[in-house]
Amino acid sequence: MATPSPSPSTSNGPVTFQRQGDVCVVTIDNPPVNALGVDVRRGLAAAIDAAEADSSAKAVLIVGAGRNFIAGADIREFGQAPQQPSLPEVCLKIENCTKPVVAAIHGAALGGGLEIALSAHYRLAAPTAKLGLPEVALGLLPGSGGTQRAPRLIGVKPALELMLSGRHAGAKEALSLGLVDRLGNDADARAEGLAYAQELVAANAPVRRTREAAGLADKDAARAALDAARADTAKKSRGLFSPMKIIEAVEGALTLPFDEGMALERKLFLQCIDSPQRAGLIHAFFAEREVLKAPETRSATPRALTSAGIVGGGTMGAGIAVAMLDAGLPVTMVERDDTQLARGRANVEKVYDGLIAKGRMTPEAKAAVMARFSGSTSYDAFANVDIVVEAVFEEMGVKKAVFAELDRVCKKGAVLATNTSYLDIDEIAASISRPQDVVGLHFFSPANIMKLLEIVVPAKVSADVVATGFELAKKLKKVPVRAGVCDGFIGNRILAVYRQAADHMMEDGASPYDIDAAVRNFGYPMGPFQVSDLAGGDIGWATRKRKAATRDPQARYVQVADRICERGWFGQKTQRGYYLYPEGARTGQPDPEVLAIIDTERVRAGITPRTFTEEEIMRRYMAAMINEGANVVLQRIALRPLDVDVTFLYGYGFPRHRGGPMKYADTVGLPKVLADIREFAKEDPIFWKPSPLLVELVERGADFASLNQSE
Ligand code: 3HC
Ligand code: NAI
Repeated sequence: MATPSPSPSTSNGPVTFQRQGDVCVVTIDNPPVNALGVDVRRGLAAAIDAAEADSSAKAVLIVGAGRNFIAGADIREFGQAPQQPSLPEVCLKIENCTKPVVAAIHGAALGGGLEIALSAHYRLAAPTAKLGLPEVALGLLPGSGGTQRAPRLIGVKPALELMLSGRHAGAKEALSLGLVDRLGNDADARAEGLAYAQELVAANAPVRRTREAAGLADKDAARAALDAARADTAKKSRGLFSPMKIIEAVEGALTLPFDEGMALERKLFLQCIDSPQRAGLIHAFFAEREVLKAPETRSATPRALTSAGIVGGGTMGAGIAVAMLDAGLPVTMVERDDTQLARGRANVEKVYDGLIAKGRMTPEAKAAVMARFSGSTSYDAFANVDIVVEAVFEEMGVKKAVFAELDRVCKKGAVLATNTSYLDIDEIAASISRPQDVVGLHFFSPANIMKLLEIVVPAKVSADVVATGFELAKKLKKVPVRAGVCDGFIGNRILAVYRQAADHMMEDGASPYDIDAAVRNFGYPMGPFQVSDLAGGDIGWATRKRKAATRDPQARYVQVADRICERGWFGQKTQRGYYLYPEGARTGQPDPEVLAIIDTERVRAGITPRTFTEEEIMRRYMAAMINEGANVVLQRIALRPLDVDVTFLYGYGFPRHRGGPMKYADTVGLPKVLADIREFAKEDPIFWKPSPLLVELVERGADFASLNQSE
């Protein structure tokens, strides 16, 4: 069909209206992602009014300019005073249009973006389009008719699955689900949408309202899907607020007329909006994007990153090698000797063999990946690599010897990175002739899975090396956080402090099992003593022994962990730690002998045990975390409180719906946190010293969020 030439366009804010033959083309152009802010909603409403008023127009086409159709509601507007028209009103206006409305989708049609498309009468998707209702990830439910229209269009079961998982469906799947009517052939959704609209006009096609679709006809199947989702969600969604609200809203689609279902959806949506979980999850959404904006990523261009070297093939070296291989990089591993090199290679292969055993990789794919892997016992193998990550034993002497070799063999401009957990990277950098190339890349175990990458910035490093660290994170699909040099950087430094708070409570009367349960009920997947058992108690024991000479003799030191380690109980790997792990078990059982050890330690320390409520456990645990987080921000180890938040969300299992420890502190209120610390300081003024930053913020009546804008 010939494409008629377009009429001059008229704009209503970010929405443009243009006649092309019989079709009114409505284009949303609101960079970066065409979010449905108030101006877009007004523009869309005006465009539909204009199309209705134009007596010679026969159909309407809605498209997005740029890379996406529409990414959803404007997330920045949540929590602010609502502005008219609301998105549900705009969707209803589209659906009520008396001329066929086509949505031509390319890129993302997410949340409110998909709800706009569902309100249209016909939908076409470009082959690369992504469609979804990801509101659950923000603590919300689809609040513009998604819970009412999607089940009517595609049935309760698939609609619930999309809403509860929040996942994005590809265009092909969307077609098979019935979310869209037609697949485009290429990425020019506008042209294909226009042809589709013209075709509909030529065929005199009727308006086809989703609210009248027949997806709920099989009531029994719909009811069964609701019951199953309810049971599954009760098991899995650990204290999350919005999933059950989604189910309740979808149930409304089944039991109520459309208008009443919409009213129910609105009521439940507003409950979600008011929930602190929504605030926490949206904070996490923006924070994980803000961490990418470090000063060096703005000022410098990353160096080339086409090949990588790894020193050490142990737990971390092998994991980092897998992460690099998975990102498509060729990897060269250097180990001490042939035996260790064979072990390093085997550690890498073990990961892929595990995937093959689970049916998630073919032997051929493994062979293709391993073809990019090479090993050597000579550092000369690194002569041409762009970046080397060192992951050898945590000893300064060993690290310096490795860096001397790297200094000798690596080409000019190669990035020389260390994965040290605690050692002074300035000292490592100062020991070689090119400190400007030395950076910390602190991966977390297992390094091929954990998302966090602390990019540790020593004093002499050049900005483009730091920018290369961020670029590597992007290639590896990790979340980078910029950190300064100190003992433990952001995460492990704060961990050391709240871990001590947990030990103090254990000695004062709470059992490790009580503390772990409280921390799990707060939303963590595991408590601190379970984590110790998983990581291996020997690691912390070695660190404590190393630091024994420099420990403040006045500071409280709980010896329970040492007593446990002295017995050779290092956790899961020895089938015994704080918990008992009978043969093969990964979930521990409480151990009466551990409780007896704790009792003995209490007697030795002259402590009469007292009871702790779960609430007090978490108050102390979080106060210790927040206070050290404030110190880390004050000393510029973290650029902003949000960098601490992202570190804990991605490296330490902090419950995402609470936004991170600093966001949580704002939610509780900083005066309350400070009052707690001052109260605890009455018992132990050495451990509980209020951070000067926390004190200052309370005096100014400010919160941590006010510091997130500062960079
Ligand atoms: N509202 C406001 N800003 C948004 C936004 C939204 N819905 N989606 C993305 N942005 C911003 C980002 O914060 C970022 O801003 P920055 O450049 O200042 O950091 C910018 O747009 C680009 O985003 P990304 O870096 O994420 O770009 P990508 O190209 O990597 O990803 C995307 C694009 C897949 C669309 C991704 O941005 C995304 O998943 N967005 C959120 C989708 C979503 O959750 N939609 C549901 C919203 S809630 C809703 O619609 C409620 C309704 O039911 C009533
Ligand atoms: P590991 O003991 O499992 O592996 C170390 C490897 O380095 C061994 O295979 C050893 O043969 C090799 N090695 C030692 N000296 C070498 C040398 N001179 N040249 C070449 N290879 C040498 O140790 P792991 O756990 O992998 O830790 C490595 C580093 O990563 C340490 O600095 C550690 O602090 C850090 N780290 C460890 C984490 C963990 O959870 N295990 C997490 C984050 C960082």
